Formats: sequence, structure tokens, C-alpha cells
Amino acid sequence: MKPARDYIIFPLDVPTLEEAKPYIECLSDCVGMFKLGLELFIRSGPEAIKTIKSNGNTGIFLDLKLHDIPETVKRAVKVLADLDVTFTTVHCGESINMLESAVKGAEGRVGILGVTVLTSVSKKDIIDAGFNDRFSSDLTGLVMKRAETAQKAGCAGVVCSGLEAGVIKNKFGNNFLAVTPGIRPAWDKTAKDDQQRIMTPAQAIKNGADYLVIGRPIRDSNDPREAALKIAEEINEANK
Ligand code: C5P
Repeated sequence: MKPARDYIIFPLDVPTLEEAKPYIECLSDCVGMFKLGLELFIRSGPEAIKTIKSNGNTGIFLDLKLHDIPETVKRAVKVLADLDVTFTTVHCGESINMLESAVKGAEGRVGILGVTVLTSVSKKDIIDAGFNDRFSSDLTGLVMKRAETAQKAGCAGVVCSGLEAGVIKNKFGNNFLAVTPGIRPAWDKTAKDDQQRIMTPAQAIKNGADYLVIGRPIRDSNDPREAALKIAEEINEANK
């Protein structure tokens, strides 16, 4: 069993490296990975990666959520793989070709995670987007369909809500990773925000999640380090 801290992925959802640095410094030894999204990457991506690496052996999840024609995605992933990061993301989208191209571009140097259905998406959003009843009445069906495509394309795993982690691990096997955002500890005060399909860290771990993306409950707490350590404790308990 991996150490509890290695389950935690902390998103550096801030606009500048100056704002990210205090989090990198205080969390490097209590989270397993830092997630870099577009907000920070656009301004200072490669420099932020250097800073994370010089602060310890924390992994990097470059969450760019690519979605383009297959050739463009392949070429982007090829360049991105030079940054020596653990994971990046590609939307599962409409066709398997884009995911396959991402995997080809990665050449085994970075793990490709397929984004299934964002945890901020509700059933109503799916209806409004024109999906038929089969998918809008139960989002799990859509998540599973997209996860199946991701596995066929050779992805390392998917990003999904903790609610789906269990069925995904059951159906696609233990080696296919379930990375779950939308995590809200019971003590968290930011519970009422844009995340729709949420779970506590313990629930997600019990459901088989391999990694938990936990942002605001850590970032917005009075003591981010203490919040991360408290979550790690909860993960330990859930793994007993
Ligand atoms: O815990 P919190 O809601 O603050 O986490 C937000 C982070 O989770 C953002 O970086 C967002 O990109 C990420 N996220 C994700 N996939 C989703 C939903 C959120 O990677 N389906």
C-alpha cells in the first residue's frame, strides 16, 4: 500500500508562481503530486515545474485537458513529455482517435489520463448538451463509456468522480487508474461551490480511487499543511 500522502494531488490553482511558491514549500512533503492547470501554466509553466522539482520529490500532474484534432494533440503531448511530468489529461471527447494520438505522442514518457465527465457537470447540463435519456438519467453510463474508450486507446486511467471510481476499477482492472476530484472532507467549509458530484476522502478511497485531487479544502483553509495532514490521516484510516 502506498503512503497516504501519495494519494493526494494538490492543484496549484493560482495565477502566479509567486502565489504558488508558499504552497509548494509547505506542502511538498505532505502531498504526492502538484497539479498544474492552465491558469499557472500559461504564465510560468516550465519555471513552476522547475520550482516543484527543486523542492522535493513530489510528482507533477500537468492538467491541460487537451481537446483538438488528433495530430495537434499528438504533437502537443510529444513536446509536453519533455517536461518530465507524471500525468497529463486529454478530454475523452467524441472519438477514440484523439486519445490514441495522445498516447502515441507520449511515447510512454507521460501517463495520459482521459477526462470522462467533469465533476462540476450535472444531469441538467447533460440534458442541455443534447444527450439522450440513456446518459442524462445516469451520468455513470456516460463516464463508463468514456472510460472504456480511454482504456482501448491505451490511457493510463481516467479522471472521474469518486462515485464512479469503484465501478471503473471493477470493470477495467486495478491497473487502470481512477483519479478523483470533487473531494470534500466532512469538516470542509467550502462544500457549497461548483462541484456537483462530491465525496469525502475516506469514501473515495474506500471506493477504490488511486489519487484524490483536493484543492479548495486545502488551499482555502487557515492552515493548508494541517489540512493536508488531516486528509492523509483520514486516508490512512480508510485504508485500514
Ligand atoms: O477541490 P477543488 O474543487 O478545489 O479542485 C479543483 C481542481 O480540480 C481544479 O484544478 C480542477 O481543474 C480539478 N478538477 C478536475 N477534474 C474535474 C473537476 C475538477 O481535474 N472533473
